[in-house]
Amino acid sequence: MSNLHMKKAVCVTAVSIIVSVMALSDVNQRCIAENNGTISNDFLLGTWYFVYQFDHIGPIPTCTCPNTTFTRPTEEELSGYRAKYGSYDLPHKITEDSLVADRGYIKGLILGGLETKTYIIDPKSVMSSGPEGYEVYVYRRINEKFAFFWRCAMRGHVRYLMTNDRNATEEEKQLAIKDRSEVFNKLIRKYCVDICY
Ligand SMILES: *[C@@H]1O[C@H](CO)[C@@H](O)[C@H](O)[C@H]1NC(C)=O
Ligand SMILES: *[C@@H]1O[C@H](CO)[C@@H](O)[C@H](O)[C@H]1NC(C)=O
Ligand SMILES: *[C@@H]1O[C@H](CO)[C@@H](O)[C@H](O)[C@H]1NC(C)=O
Repeated sequence: MSNLHMKKAVCVTAVSIIVSVMALSDVNQRCIAENNGTISNDFLLGTWYFVYQFDHIGPIPTCTCPNTTFTRPTEEELSGYRAKYGSYDLPHKITEDSLVADRGYIKGLILGGLETKTYIIDPKSVMSSGPEGYEVYVYRRINEKFAFFWRCAMRGHVRYLMTNDRNATEEEKQLAIKDRSEVFNKLIRKYCVDICY
């Protein structure tokens, strides 16, 4: 490649990276505007199991049981997050009402009191939370036992049904998603089933 071509290639790559980052932040902003319902952070406290994944891929049941445990952060945890993320332009603020989300292999903090929440990863982690340093998630309450979860960055293509009852029956799960437009026409992949394939 000539020097000029090289410069052009570098320039195009840089522009496309910037464009894709801006597009993602637009996606997040639109997601925040469209999902403006409420869910109380108290409701999320405890352990939630991701039992259905709504996707374009088929059933494939699995006994792995992705789960997240939500707890109130300690003052020390909050100040750790504030020290690392204080200079970030986060869609939601770090407040006393934030929740620690522990997935077992990775911890983070979710911010915001409405349906959409900003997720930032534990400052001690070497991983980062997405290209912008954070992700935006939607948690939508269905009833006492069930809620939907999805990542705004996935643009609604992949959603999950989560439950705070590890023993919820298949009938209860089906009833919870019945006639819900969020998952209309999507295939269900089942987690947390007893049989391992
Ligand atoms: C809330 O979200 C709904 C559904 O996307 C939308 O129709 C409505 O305009 C939004 N309301 C506000 C105040 O943004
Ligand atoms: C919750 O997730 C962790 C980490 O993936 C896993 O080790 C554990 O078995 C899960 N809990 C249940 C009840 O399946
Ligand atoms: C779920 O079922 C198991 C096995 O039947 C039982 O040991 C456990 O206590 C139940 N958990 C809840 C929360 O009901």
